[in-house]
Amino acid sequence: MILVCGGIKGGVGKTTLATNMAILRSAAGRDVLLVDADDQATASDFTAVRNETLQGNAGYTSIKLHGANVRSEVMRMVGKYDDVVIDVGGRDTAGQRAALSVADVYVVPFLPGSFDVWTLDSVGELVEEARAFNDKLKAVCVINRADSIGSDNAEAAAIALEIPNLTYIDAPMGNRKAFRSAAAQGLAVTEMKRPDKKAVEELEKLYKYLFDA
Ligand SMILES: Nc1ncnc2c1ncn2[C@@H]1O[C@H](COP(=O)(O)OP(=O)(O)OP(=O)(O)O)[C@@H](O)[C@H]1O
Ligand SMILES: [Mg+2]
Repeated sequence: MILVCGGIKGGVGKTTLATNMAILRSAAGRDVLLVDADDQATASDFTAVRNETLQGNAGYTSIKLHGANVRSEVMRMVGKYDDVVIDVGGRDTAGQRAALSVADVYVVPFLPGSFDVWTLDSVGELVEEARAFNDKLKAVCVINRADSIGSDNAEAAAIALEIPNLTYIDAPMGNRKAFRSAAAQGLAVTEMKRPDKKAVEELEKLYKYLFDA
């Protein structure tokens, strides 16, 4: 399966999702290719740190791709891997569109209580355009960095539920230090010495939504 972690907002958790999903998937015994289609190359930097932490045993293969090559190279390699996870930049780029033209599932994280939720309309339009060429594309959005108190999550969810072409999934990830600390060591939250149980539960719930879809 080809999973794309994207959207048109920066800093919302695309790379966090992509790297954690790639690791959970490879821990489940799958041969995973992680494609870094963001010129900022955060996913590749993460993998470099990971290889240092784990003495070269990242557990998945990582490559960098740019623009239209995302489509052609992924199509060439998809048969060689069980799953491909693509991390894209936080803008509407040729690379993101190329990724959507070959994806099975597109997951778009967004932050509650911010203007993020309004950008989802444009993401829905992007999905509609992609579906003209790729009618199998499933597109979902999910809250990241959910607040533990207040009504922001529910309000954001209510708006997200109304966005055409995007399915809101109820698998929010809380705003938890564990996601940042794990990333700094090149690890998934599940791999920490003392894993944050809530973060792990949230991630596993989302994993099921995405890969059992
Ligand atoms: N659920 C979370 N709880 C706490 N911190 C988080 C969470 N998700 C992401 N972060 C932190 O937020 C920052 C941005 O996350 P990330 O790099 O995954 O976003 P991005 O959408 O890929 O950004 P960009 O658009 O720059 O590629 C990182 O420092 C990351 O560790
Ligand atoms: Mg990123």
